[in-house]
Amino acid sequence: MAANPEEDKNVGTFPVPDTPRPGEAPKPWEKTNFVGKPLPRVDAHERVSGSAIYPSDVRLPNMLYGAILGCPHPNARVKRLDTGKAEKMPGVYAVISGSTPEANLKWPYRQGRPPKEISSKIFDPHCRFEGDAVAAVAAETPYQSWDALRAIIVEYEVLHFVVDERAALQAGAPLVRDEGNLVQTEKYERGDVEKGFAEAEQVLEETYRTACEIHTPMELHGCVAHWEGDRLTLWESTQGVFAIQSEVAAVLGLPLAKIRVIGHYMGGGFGSKLQPGKYSAIAALLARRAGRPVKLFLSREQTYLMVGNRPPCNMRLKAGVKKDGTLTALDFSVLATGGAYPAGGTVLVDWQVRDLYNCPNVRIESTDVYVNAGPARAFRAPGHPQGSWALEQMMDALAGALKMDPVDLRLKNIAAVSQARDGQPPYVTTGLKQCLEEGAGAFGWIDAREKAIKTPGKDYLLRGVGMASGLWFAGGANPPSTVIIRMFSDGSVNLNMGASDLGTGTKTVMAGVAAEELGVPPGSIQIENADTGTTQYTRPSGGSKTVPTEAPTVRAAAIHVKQQLLSIAAEELKVDVSDLAFKDGMIGSRSDSSKSVKISDLAGLKKRGVIIGIGSRDPDPAGKVVNPFAAQFCEVEVNMKTGEVKILRFLGAHDSGRVMNRLTYDSQVFGGITMGIGLAATEGRVLDAATGRMLNRNWHDYKLPTALDVPAEMVSLPIELISPEINTTGSKGLGEPVTIPTAAAVANAVYHATGVRVTTSPISPMELCKLFSNRSKEG
Ligand code: MOS
Repeated sequence: MAANPEEDKNVGTFPVPDTPRPGEAPKPWEKTNFVGKPLPRVDAHERVSGSAIYPSDVRLPNMLYGAILGCPHPNARVKRLDTGKAEKMPGVYAVISGSTPEANLKWPYRQGRPPKEISSKIFDPHCRFEGDAVAAVAAETPYQSWDALRAIIVEYEVLHFVVDERAALQAGAPLVRDEGNLVQTEKYERGDVEKGFAEAEQVLEETYRTACEIHTPMELHGCVAHWEGDRLTLWESTQGVFAIQSEVAAVLGLPLAKIRVIGHYMGGGFGSKLQPGKYSAIAALLARRAGRPVKLFLSREQTYLMVGNRPPCNMRLKAGVKKDGTLTALDFSVLATGGAYPAGGTVLVDWQVRDLYNCPNVRIESTDVYVNAGPARAFRAPGHPQGSWALEQMMDALAGALKMDPVDLRLKNIAAVSQARDGQPPYVTTGLKQCLEEGAGAFGWIDAREKAIKTPGKDYLLRGVGMASGLWFAGGANPPSTVIIRMFSDGSVNLNMGASDLGTGTKTVMAGVAAEELGVPPGSIQIENADTGTTQYTRPSGGSKTVPTEAPTVRAAAIHVKQQLLSIAAEELKVDVSDLAFKDGMIGSRSDSSKSVKISDLAGLKKRGVIIGIGSRDPDPAGKVVNPFAAQFCEVEVNMKTGEVKILRFLGAHDSGRVMNRLTYDSQVFGGITMGIGLAATEGRVLDAATGRMLNRNWHDYKLPTALDVPAEMVSLPIELISPEINTTGSKGLGEPVTIPTAAAVANAVYHATGVRVTTSPISPMELCKLFSNRSKEG
């Protein structure tokens, strides 16, 4: 703010030259009151007191409870379905299935560009995965609807199935679709890979696998559907109300204006709630048939089967380096599955290999196959942690082979441009070097790496440290996104945006941005919750773009309010508008301290009743790329008797641009690391080879990391490289980069401790013990 110290002494004047004049671009904040500070959540009380209304809390008068009958087989045709008995059960108001005329609707699955689209039915007679919808009911109570489901008689023609993607393309494998089990093979090549390997002085090759991970958000998937005449209102647990509006409208054949989607709060999504589920459309169909509102939330077991996963990935990576650590070639292949429909099994798995390190010669082949399992959905940094599991373990192995420090090997290969994109555009900012150097310094990397790795007296407890780095391929997004800020005649502020707060603290960040510009306390800003009927259009909250997209939009709306206030004040104070500035709820002359006015005293504001500021976001800079970068470091202790891995500490160094709120920033880092520990060490869908059914479809058998699995010491180290080119707030997005390198860092630490490289996730005690015993047999 005050560049000239003289100005600070000038109490009562307005040394705040930060309000852009009309037509001028907003300058980056130099010093801030709110942005970047550890602001507590503006909606903390609502969230912890239970007064926040999540879709699962909604109860409407006359509301019925819906439930979906899922196919118990991984591959089967419905031969006969009899709902007669269910319809006569007590409390039952609606039963629908594939033979209900209005429920005979297409359900689209699509993937790729141009999209390969496969339509199935909401109730498809051919169920290609366990849990796919066969029929649905609505009754007075949840128990009555579950009883009614059990009364539905279904005869299935049970078909052969394939649930292991490694078997899907083998000769004689059961066919998920008549046209075969191959979704697509995608190829990418730059440079000359053979030449690259010929130039290499060290070549390593390894295969890797990551298990299928399930999103498991706290709040189940579902909605409440209510018709008023021909208008449908859905209270949906979602990451984006407008996405639900458009996709449900398309499925039901309704005009967009006839669907209102309300998503005030939501209890986690991680990508699985970027889109509606069949449950959204089924709830609407049941409600229309029953003539009463219907609440339909899936059971926890159903969420394991029906609403997405991080696809299991099989990878092979061959890498060549020179003795000085320069990468010369990367040859990567992926075999993965998005389940029984085109759902992006291999999407972005190759991105780390393509773009993280300087490498002129890269070849990638990705093969996506069908299996009889539930469709994948975007999952926090889709594809990236899987690719990182391979690339970052390979970098660790290369460093070992070259007798180089793993951090140094990565420093040797930092890229200044996005090599994977056409024309290889430069990054606006690349903090990978700082993440590596400052992260290693803060972690005490060199010391920890060299220090004795045995616990005295307990030589079966081995310690090791490992690290990995990463980048996330997005960093905000271009319009459309609109925000409206209203300042009422008393100076109080209402912020209207359609973006959902996933629990990440979006509202708090936006309140901070508006408060920064308008000079009011963040907690005093009233924020409207996402609702297609009342809030402004935007894309769903995802891709780590919520803050870098919405924050500049909020800032633009606040500046629009300020500029209108300045014109009013200029008239009333009889001062030129360019001489005016804001401070602490006042507007005053920069040159004449006697001329100032409290905003709420402006006669023009009182007369108009409200000032409406409309904000939109400028496009990302042309010809440049905005991506976040990361490096994470961890220390583990491995029990050689039991195979248990205790993660002792973690440090995440992240270049996500400006820290918008230090508390929610750190929460993202800790949450992302926790989720990455799940991928590394505890999580994995188990599909039974004999029956094709999922065996661990609940929170007891599916092992999410708990407080006992995460380290007591977690450190978040922001690397704040701020450029006005990023956007008008300087933020690049954080939610996904924080989980990309985690799992590989754990695997590298386990290797450092034990000399055993675990290439298959999760690193379970049993798997480790097997590897230890193999090694001692070989030894
Ligand atoms: Mo994210 S996987 O874009 O919610």
